[in-house]
Amino acid sequence: MKLFVYHTPALTPTDSVPDCAVVIDVLRATTTIVTALQAGAEAVQVFSEIDELLQASAAWPAEQRLRAGERGGMQIPSFDIGNSPLDCTPERVAGRRLFISTTNGTRALQRVAEAPMVIAAAQVNRQAVCRYVWEQQPETVWLLASGWEGNFSLEDTACAGAIAQPLVLAGTVAGNDEAVAALALYAQWQPQLLALFRQASHGQRLLRLGFAEDLRYAAQSDVVDVVPLQQAAGIFSQSH
Ligand code: MLT
Repeated sequence: MKLFVYHTPALTPTDSVPDCAVVIDVLRATTTIVTALQAGAEAVQVFSEIDELLQASAAWPAEQRLRAGERGGMQIPSFDIGNSPLDCTPERVAGRRLFISTTNGTRALQRVAEAPMVIAAAQVNRQAVCRYVWEQQPETVWLLASGWEGNFSLEDTACAGAIAQPLVLAGTVAGNDEAVAALALYAQWQPQLLALFRQASHGQRLLRLGFAEDLRYAAQSDVVDVVPLQQAAGIFSQSH
């Protein structure tokens, strides 16, 4: 296995896809996807464009769907919920399909939708993702950080390092300099991930918007045993 880290979707090679793409948007899209599936959502379907989400979800029975999403961190008007993982309670999401569009995370997922294996990862399900990838042994793995509007995000690359660490210790080759940098970033901040998230520019944006509890939740390691796996283009459910 050979592992590559990319700090933003725009930095990925345009002429190839990996055997396995692990997409990371710790604050907050992939944390929300993981949490929704843990809470019993039937599936999570991701969209980069709001119009496409509205069209696809309109074809779904109203009592079996939930429209979720944000722009700039704020809930999209008329949607059922925003992008807070804490809104994904079993009461709200169990048995429903979550149709979600976010500023960066769902776009990153769409960037690699053609890879044969696409996984949504966050700090909360890191161990489950590492275990799954190790069991599958894909030849090439991309850890794709979503970043923020084309720019580097501390929290996503730190999570890429958190996922890379056990895989590299088990013998996976770090395939690019970014993978080595992600490992170093995680090693430096591992005991203080919440402090790192609070310092990150998007963390600060979320704090200004009143989402301190989302940061606290997203900074937890290995508390959710769910691996969201793409089953068809843009549709994620738990791996079995
Ligand atoms: C994104 O996709 O950029 C984020 O998930 C934004 C957010 O925190 O809601």
